[in-house]
Amino acid sequence: MRRKVIAGNWKMHNDLKQSEDLIKSLKELLKDKSVNCDVIVCPPFTSLSEASKLVNGSIIKLGAQNMHFEDKGAFTGEVSASMLKSVGCEYVILGHSERRTIFDESDETINKKIKKALEQGLKPIFCIGETLEEREKEITKDVVMRQVEKGLEGISSEQMKKLIVAYEPVWAIGTGKTATPQQAQEVHEFIRGLISSKYGSDIAEDLVIQYGGSVKPDNASELLSQKDIDGALVGGACLKADLFMGIITNA
Ligand code: 13P
Repeated sequence: MRRKVIAGNWKMHNDLKQSEDLIKSLKELLKDKSVNCDVIVCPPFTSLSEASKLVNGSIIKLGAQNMHFEDKGAFTGEVSASMLKSVGCEYVILGHSERRTIFDESDETINKKIKKALEQGLKPIFCIGETLEEREKEITKDVVMRQVEKGLEGISSEQMKKLIVAYEPVWAIGTGKTATPQQAQEVHEFIRGLISSKYGSDIAEDLVIQYGGSVKPDNASELLSQKDIDGALVGGACLKADLFMGIITNA
């Protein structure tokens, strides 16, 4: 039985004080609640260190939103996996569609980042998903297959056990337009099939595949009740503690 994982991708929101307030509010809401899923928050880099202190001792785990694939060097503006580890991160979001489209990250770059994260003991939340144009052309599965094959090239079975996949149809991100539970389930099942043919059914069955794209408390429970949807990667709704808590409760 896979345990559900609810992660909040804060994107470029919240300065230090706002980050502290949001985590404190979330901790308050989680207090004394028995929660049946893993909870991850991914604040901006500038808040990670303080966030790490605040989540310590709670069920909330910490993730970052990106990293570079090199260990160190002249890469102005970048941060390394070991830097993220040093501020208490356990997870890192890689391959988000905003990184792919706005910052031109290729499947090859994302693959290097995934390898480095795993080598350094960080658990990648590996994002994949098609654009609206690709869905309309009915090439969703081809796109997802390419992203999985290239993104996971050279990743061992042991490493796969540390990784989370997040299926985020680009047309559903920040648009209020959620994939229907059936649309999402179809792609999730396809992804699990891809992993099964590459790594075997045991690893595929244990793999957590999150859905992301306009997840809100009122659509979470139907999405999360689909057979192959094991959690959510939440954008907008994770910026308000009560909404994020609503999604956690529905998991
Ligand atoms: P929204 O929940 O705002 O659609 O964002 C989803 C997302 O991109 C999470 O990574």
